[in-house]
Amino acid sequence: MKRVGFIGWRGMVGSVLMDRMIQEDDFKFMESYFFTTSQLGSSAPNVKNGFPTLLGAMDIKELSKMDILVSCQGGDYTTEMFPALRNSGWKGVWIDAASTLRMKDDAIIVLDPVNRKFIQESIDKGVKNFVGGNCTVSLLLIALDGLFKENLVEWVSSMTYQAASGAGAKNMIELLDQMKTVGQSFAANPSGEALELEKQMTNLMNGENFPKAHFGHPLALNVLPWIDSELPSGQSKEEWKAQVEANKILQTKTPIPIDGTCVRVGALRCHSQGLTIKLKKSTSLSSLEEIISVANPWVRLIPNNKPATLKDLTPAAVSGKLHVPIGRLRPMTLGDTYLNAFTLGDQLLWGAAEPLRCVLRQILI
Ligand code: HSE
Repeated sequence: MKRVGFIGWRGMVGSVLMDRMIQEDDFKFMESYFFTTSQLGSSAPNVKNGFPTLLGAMDIKELSKMDILVSCQGGDYTTEMFPALRNSGWKGVWIDAASTLRMKDDAIIVLDPVNRKFIQESIDKGVKNFVGGNCTVSLLLIALDGLFKENLVEWVSSMTYQAASGAGAKNMIELLDQMKTVGQSFAANPSGEALELEKQMTNLMNGENFPKAHFGHPLALNVLPWIDSELPSGQSKEEWKAQVEANKILQTKTPIPIDGTCVRVGALRCHSQGLTIKLKKSTSLSSLEEIISVANPWVRLIPNNKPATLKDLTPAAVSGKLHVPIGRLRPMTLGDTYLNAFTLGDQLLWGAAEPLRCVLRQILI
């Protein structure tokens, strides 16, 4: 049995990965070892074939004993430890949730429903570095899998509505803290008039005491149209990732343009995207619906009507679920090759943990 080491298994992505691996009984296929940066020697999680004690995540010697390492520890850890491990001569497989290595030539971006065959060919060829994609990219590609497979897409404009959890656990808790502060202020003036309350809340969220150590700005009662760092192109880094990562996953010869504005909103763990899709040719709506809905087991077509949309095409409905709904499909008045769509998915499942779980299983079995 292969030895698999897990780093960052206690964080949000790592915890979701652990839960999914237990649900799918994945631990029976490996000997598992859990690494820690802070609790060396403490008890490890009790899983099948698991080593009982935590090992040191900065200990190259212990890490090097692993056939496979799975890191959900974050980009700083990858930046420090991955080159150190490779330089020490370690030849194992590195599976990573962080973006650090994604665009490297010797790394494959893994997204099982979309590029499983290519992942298998890469495993067979001896590729050693497998990295999960950006969450919005992975969710977009699962939703539009059929259109890409049929070579129907000329370009996509994606306007995102990204959940607080995408910025990290502390940020998600800060959103709740902001909401609590709003709630307390409302409770102190429960019979205020609407406009009076609006003024009260606007002053509150712009005030010095509003909790915003992590976001730096109010997210509750607000939206933040910038995610990640600034690039010279005027894009945010999150916006830049859409095109480069999607085309790497799709292995396109001529890149398909994908661009838009990425926006943080007050959802907890589902990333949504409003799409304008430019098709290469005019295609009937019923054909497009068929192509999209049968592309993979995870995409789910939601009929373009108000009750179905508001019931099934929202973060409230999709949080914690593996399926990726897409709806609001309709031709646009812009022209007969323009398709409107709205899609979303759980950014911790197919957006982060699930592609890692699938590639690990694919390597082991
Ligand atoms: N970069 C994403 C976000 C995290 O900020 O929402 C998921 O990859």
